[in-house]
Formats: sequence, C-alpha cells, structure tokens
Amino acid sequence: MSRQRTLLITGASSGIGYAVAQMMLNEGHTVIGVSRRSQHVFVNESHYYGVKVDMAALKTLPEKFKKITQQYSSIDGVVSCAGYGQFASIEEFSYEQIQQLIDLNVTSHLYLARAMVPFLKKHQSSDLLFIGSEAALSGGRRGAVYCASKFALRGFAQALREESSKSGLRVSIVNPGMVKTEFFDKLHFRPGDEPENYIEAVDVAQAVSMVLNARAGTVFDEINLSPQKKVIRF
Ligand SMILES: NC(=O)c1ccc[n+]([C@@H]2O[C@H](COP(=O)([O-])OP(=O)(O)OC[C@H]3O[C@@H](n4cnc5c(N)ncnc54)[C@H](OP(=O)(O)O)[C@@H]3O)[C@@H](O)[C@H]2O)c1
Repeated sequence: MSRQRTLLITGASSGIGYAVAQMMLNEGHTVIGVSRRSQHVFVNESHYYGVKVDMAALKTLPEKFKKITQQYSSIDGVVSCAGYGQFASIEEFSYEQIQQLIDLNVTSHLYLARAMVPFLKKHQSSDLLFIGSEAALSGGRRGAVYCASKFALRGFAQALREESSKSGLRVSIVNPGMVKTEFFDKLHFRPGDEPENYIEAVDVAQAVSMVLNARAGTVFDEINLSPQKKVIRF
C-alpha cells in the first residue's frame, strides 16, 4: 500500500486475524487489534494497539466501538474476522449455543459495520473486509448453524458492497476453506497433515493485502481460497 493506513482488525490475537495484523504491521501500517486477548500480542510493536473487547457481549459493543473511534480517529480500514466454529447436527445444539454462535459470527460483525461504516465513509477511500468461509458457499453435513452464520455474513457483505458503491468505501469478503489455526483445537476434526491439505493463515493474509492494496476504484468483491487437496482427519 502506498499510503500509511490505520486498520482495525478483530480476532487479531490468533490465526487469520493475527496473520493479517502481522502482515499489515510489516507493510508499515498502524493496527488496532480487537478481541479478548488482543492486548497481549505484538507487545513490542510501536504501531500496534490492542483493545480488549468481548465481541459476543453485544450490549456493550456500541459504547466500546464509540470509544475506539474517538481514540483512533484515523481508522480507514476494518478487517472483521473474529469468530468460531461449532459443528454438529441441529438436534445436538442447545438453543443457547445457537444464539451464541449467531451473536459472534453474525451480529457482532453487523454491529461493527453499523459503528464503522459512517466513519469509514468520511474517508476518500476506505475498506471494510469480512473474513467469511467456504461454509458461506455451500451447506455441509453437521454445519447447518455455522453455514447459516457464514451465509448471513456473505449476504450482508454483498448488500453492503452495493449500498456503499456511491462512497469511497469498498466492501469485500474473503472465503477460506480449512486454515490451519486454533480454530480446530476444540473441534473433533481438522485438516489433513500434508501441506496441500490446508491453507495457512498467511495465505489468507496475502489475499487480504491484495484486496487492501487494489487501486482505488477497483473492488475485489469476493475471494475464495481452498486447499489443493481437501482431506479431513477425525
Ligand atoms: N480456520 C479455518 O479453517 C477457517 C476457515 C474459514 C473461515 N474461518 C473464520 O476465520 C475467522 C478466524 O478464525 P481462525 O481460524 O483464525 O481461528 P482462531 O485462531 O481460533 O482465531 C479466532 C479469533 O477470534 C477471536 N474471538 C473469538 N471469540 C471472540 C469473542 N467472543 N470476542 C472477541 N474476539 C473473539 C479470537 O480472539 P480472543 O480469543 O482473543 O477473543 C481469535 O483472535 C473466524 O470467523 C472463522 O469462522 C476460519
């Protein structure tokens, strides 16, 4: 990127968000990392500011986002990444688990957009990029709730992209397949062990960098990434 930017990245403490934050810092930008643990990473980076926010605590978010925009008024890009996976048949989900997954994987992203879009539109050019998933592209067994969340996010991103087209705000979504991260730590499956069985977080960060570096006036609406050979281990 030719210009120096200030990017807010949710989920910056781990996996994809961490890799994106690292790449943006390497490119010379300022990063505001947002999650429950984001204040504990990149502690030696002078252009990194970690803000502790539980994105699932929806009622607290408007006030938290207001404080962030007041403190870091130069934010001209947002990477909305925080989320988690839970995979089971619908009967195995409690009502509370459905609510929790939708709160974080969908509603928190909508709240973040609600807070940030007016702010981003004030810039001549700005970006709002969502980390979606291949689960936003087709439904899979034991993925009904997770797929519902990612389809919702993708629909939101598509509509918002249209809604923002008269401003300088570009809205994009990057949909990775299986990325080797902590995401799988609590799941009963993971990608295969061979390098062609998974995407690395840095690969997703490269896609994000390409989106953010695109010439103003060009929008990468959507990018899909997948491992060369899809192998799932149980
Ligand atoms: N890994 C994959 O195969 C894959 C594929 C497609 C899409 N994705 C999506 O990519 C995103 C990141 O996943 P990842 O693979 O990087 O997983 P990860 O390594 O587990 O990272 C998840 C990130 O989300 C944050 N987060 C989780 N709950 C949060 C909460 N309540 N409040 C604030 N932040 C919270 C975590 O931060 P704290 O713990 O510090 O709060 C962490 O930084 C998710 O939306 C996931 O659905 C992942």
